[in-house]
This record gives sequence, structure tokens and C-alpha cells, in this order.
Amino acid sequence: MRKIILDGDPGHDDVIAFLMALGNSDQLEVLGFTTVAGNSTVENCTANILKIMDYLGVSIPVAAGYSAPLCRPFDSAAKFHGETGLDGAAAYPAAHSKPVPLHAIEFLKETLLSAEEKITLVTMGPLTNIAILLKTFPQVSETIEEIVMMGGSYATGNALPKAEFNIYADPDAAKIVFDSGVHLVLATIEACFAGGILLTEQESLKDGGKVSRLVYDILKFYSRYAITNGWDRTAIFDMTTILYLLAPEIFTYKDMRVDIEVNGVYTRGMTVCDDRGPTYIKNPENPKRVLLGADRQRVADLFLSTMKKLDERYR
Ligand code: BDR
Ligand code: CA
Repeated sequence: MRKIILDGDPGHDDVIAFLMALGNSDQLEVLGFTTVAGNSTVENCTANILKIMDYLGVSIPVAAGYSAPLCRPFDSAAKFHGETGLDGAAAYPAAHSKPVPLHAIEFLKETLLSAEEKITLVTMGPLTNIAILLKTFPQVSETIEEIVMMGGSYATGNALPKAEFNIYADPDAAKIVFDSGVHLVLATIEACFAGGILLTEQESLKDGGKVSRLVYDILKFYSRYAITNGWDRTAIFDMTTILYLLAPEIFTYKDMRVDIEVNGVYTRGMTVCDDRGPTYIKNPENPKRVLLGADRQRVADLFLSTMKKLDERYR
């Protein structure tokens, strides 16, 4: 059983990643969820994940984190996630539960330092909380198994042509995390798109149970962007982190050096992937694992079967 803490900015795909972890609780134990400003304000992101937990009747500690990137003003991703960060879920009751009375980095520090075995951090938003955690309490890295992040890209981008949103939003934080020496796995944009869920598969959730219907409703909003672009599928980005933990064999990957472009005029937040080979690689002892592709059918099967399991568990 792998113990994990989720850190993210829920967010449609952050919520689905959480559900995927919950649905596979025989393999993953979720110790907590820390939130950060990203897709929406940290207040909205915290309220969103609590709303989902309350809807299911599950109680997992949620700790609110930073409300802005390290050195730059906050700018949301409302274009993709709506003003609330989870548009499409308005008809579901607002959260009645509250976050724990600890800042995210205090919660992370206390959980990591009191752990008897190593814990995997799964990050799905800007890396602000994790950067400050690693700088303030560097001793926690001894209990971090690795960080599996939705972040970065091998060659492409979404926030910018060559930069992915989570890294672009707080590149200074990303640089700290990438330079920390903790082992990193990058669920890149390319791997996420390779495992896109077809609109027809999303449609099949409509007649499912309590969880499938929620996921159907939020995907209805989240998939607007794909539909506008004429695509037949949606990349549920953050879910890729959990899929990797559950079934790494679904993915193709390469281990390589990756650096963060902090200040590029056209490339801020670019993950500069160096796979030129051993002659050039400067720190081969700490390469990042860069996910490059995915077996789409296996992604879809795991996603849909987990939704069914959750429907049976939460009625
Ligand atoms: C990432 O950005 C956010 O909008 C999503 O939640 C995901 O974490 C994709 O680039
Ligand atoms: Ca996210």
C-alpha cells in the first residue's frame, strides 16, 4: 500500500484524480489534501475539494496553502475551470466541512516528520506549497518517497506554446522543487493527451451512479474546450499522476535531466528536457522521469472501472 498526500488546485481534473485514488484504496492511502492557488483562488479550491468529500461522506484532512505564487501575482485559469474553479458542480451542495486549522506546509511537515514509512507527494497544481516546504523544512525530503506531478511537457505547452500551466504559474517554485534532489516523475502534457478520455466514454457516465453522475456533470463543463477545438476526447490532466501510481506499465517514459526556464520571454515555465544522451547530461545521478505516452485504451478502462467501483461504494 502506497501512502500519498495530494497537493493541488481543484479543479475538475484534480477532483477526478482524487476520486481515482479513493476508488483504488486497496493500493493507495490518501493521508490528506493540501490546496494551493492555481485554477482558482485557494479559498475556492479548498471549498471545492471539501464539497466533493462532503458529497461522498468521506473525511480526509484538507489543509489550505498559499494564495499566490512565490514572486508573481496570482492569475487563475478561469477560462478552463470557470469562476469557481469547479464550474459544472453548482447544483451540488456547498461544503459544510472545514479545512484543518493548520497551514498546508505545517500539515505536510507534521505528517511527513511523524511518518513511519515514506510518503509519495502527488502534485497537481503550481508548486508553491512544496517549494516553501522543502526550503523551510528540508529534513522532510528524507520521508518523501518521490514527487509525482502533473506538470511540464516534453516539447509542447498549453499556458504558452512551450510551457504547461502548473509550471508556468509559479516557475520560481518549480525551480526550487526541480533542484531539490527529490526524485520527480512528470506526468507531462503529452502523456495526458495520449490518455485522453473520449467524449463518447464520458457520455456513458450519464446513466451511472452517484459518482459517475458527478463526474459526468463536471466533465460536461471541462470538455467544452476540447469540443470548441473539434477534438473527440478530453485530457483529464491530473488523473495521469494517479494512473501512473496504479499502473506505471500503461506509460512510456524516459529518464533525463530537466531544467526550468524561469524568466523566458516566450518560454517562461518551460521544462527544458535534455535527452541528448550521456555526453551532455550534467547530473545523470538525479534524472527526472518524463512520461511521454500512454496506452489510451488502458487509461479509459481503468478510469471507467474505477467510476463503477465508486458508484457501488457510495450510493
Ligand atoms: C494543469 O493545469 C490545470 O488547469 C489543471 O488542473 C492541470 O493541473 C494542466 O496544465
Ligand atoms: Ca490542477
